[in-house]
Amino acid sequence: MELDKAIKSRKSVRKFKPKKPDWRDIIECIDAARYAPMAGGMYSLKFILVDDKKIIQKLAEAAQQPFISQTQYVVVVCTNPSRTVNSYDERGKMYCRQQAGAAIENFLLKIEEAGLSTCWTGAFVEKFVKDALKIPDDINVEAMFPIGYEFEKPRTRKVKIDINRILYFNKYENEKMKKIKTLDV
Ligand SMILES: Cc1cc2nc3c(=O)[nH]c(=O)nc-3n(C[C@H](O)[C@H](O)[C@H](O)COP(=O)(O)O)c2cc1C
Repeated sequence: MELDKAIKSRKSVRKFKPKKPDWRDIIECIDAARYAPMAGGMYSLKFILVDDKKIIQKLAEAAQQPFISQTQYVVVVCTNPSRTVNSYDERGKMYCRQQAGAAIENFLLKIEEAGLSTCWTGAFVEKFVKDALKIPDDINVEAMFPIGYEFEKPRTRKVKIDINRILYFNKYENEKMKKIKTLDV
């Protein structure tokens, strides 16, 4: 799939068909996350692929979002900030979160390309997720991604925020680009 198409057609899906995805397709999507930029080239992410129904149920409860339990696979994204924080102190914590976002977007675009669907799930009680997956205290749980096939017929995604509302030129809040002066000859 063309990159532009994947970017524009990706959307959050919260209703899934019972059909089980091929786990190897999901691994390929996770593989794409390895190519994201990382501060100092230090890779801080870990991915947990969950297919145990009981654990998936616990994850749905930790998030209080029942749609998670409709799926047969959930990918949980974690970060280990230790090396990045050792190198960059306080900023290292921020870098760790930022690079998780960069890696996750790679993953989401590959999910789209594979014809799969998901929804970024960031609202959950972290302790409950850690208990369910035996994640150590010093590891962050960044997000969970229930993976499946979209239940409804693919529909066009809703219109996104207008470019004029997110773009400034030269200074914060300057919405106009100066006209480029042409040389008089
Ligand atoms: C950091 C983050 C956390 C999110 N957490 C949730 C969540 O807990 N539950 C949910 O249903 N959607 C969650 N979403 C998905 C957003 O609601 C969704 O991306 C937004 O409505 C835009 O829709 P789209 O993804 O279809 O473009 C989250 C998205 C992000 C980026």
